[in-house]
Amino acid sequence: MQFKNVMVETDGPVAVVTLNRHEQLNALSYDLVKDLSLAMQALDQDEAIAAIVITGGEKVFAAGADIKEMADLGPFDERVQGRLAYRDRINKISKPVIAAVSGFALGGGCELAMSCDIIVASETARFGQPEVNLAIIPGSGGTQRLTRLIGKHRTMELVLTGDIINAADAERLGMVNRVVPVELVLEEAKNIARKIAAKPMLAIKAAKEAVLKAANTTLDEGLDFERKSFYMLLASEDRKEGMKAFLEKRKPQFKGK
Ligand code: CAA
Repeated sequence: MQFKNVMVETDGPVAVVTLNRHEQLNALSYDLVKDLSLAMQALDQDEAIAAIVITGGEKVFAAGADIKEMADLGPFDERVQGRLAYRDRINKISKPVIAAVSGFALGGGCELAMSCDIIVASETARFGQPEVNLAIIPGSGGTQRLTRLIGKHRTMELVLTGDIINAADAERLGMVNRVVPVELVLEEAKNIARKIAAKPMLAIKAAKEAVLKAANTTLDEGLDFERKSFYMLLASEDRKEGMKAFLEKRKPQFKGK
């Protein structure tokens, strides 16, 4: 898979997608978001891949939407509409996505990290929604995801002041899963991805879908959805193998069926 603005590497069942506009601090241009979206969709379809890590490298995750590109665009410009459409497709990836964040994750970069399923941050990670400084507001889920993640008052402070917070504060607020030294952040994200990749894929995808459902439904609807997914999985070959292996005290051989 070849893209100009992202690099894709695979390590067994784990794919690592690296944002590749380092000189512009990985600013999320239309072309970058398009490449990222196409790469993620291809990996979602690839049966050999079970989990995806997104990183910006050791210096920066992403400094937000590309302000140079946005400066002259109107609301109905193809580059604005198309960017949001590609962005939405990234949110729909069915496999687990883990963010490995070092350096700035601002604006759209913070939103990209938050749309991942798990976030490993390095000690150098910096998070913020500084859009208000440009007289705009977050446009890729910042106001909604942050509120669900850290609550109204803390979100208000970040979004209204545009303040940038460090990794320790992000961990304290519950924005990230853990903070590790910068040289370990990618390996830690890959370790989590490998651990998940060893699990039965149907159950992993169903679990991800059910957890995401919690943000969009009432408790009753969410419980109903969870129950239906649970019953559905009882029909999978992997479920039979998993339980049989447990009873026979051996390692299960999952097939993703
Ligand atoms: N868009 C375009 N270019 C950007 C950029 C961005 N978001 N962020 C940084 N760059 C570019 C700079 O213009 C600069 O390019 P040149 O060398 O060609 O001048 C290069 O990256 C390095 O940046 P700095 O010299 O500014 O680096 P710094 O270390 O002094 O500061 C920073 C780093 C604090 C992240 C600063 O670059 C900054 O504030 N960036 C903008 C952050 C921001 O406002 N993000 C939100 C964007 S809006 C958005 O994201 C909305 C949405 O999704 C819908």
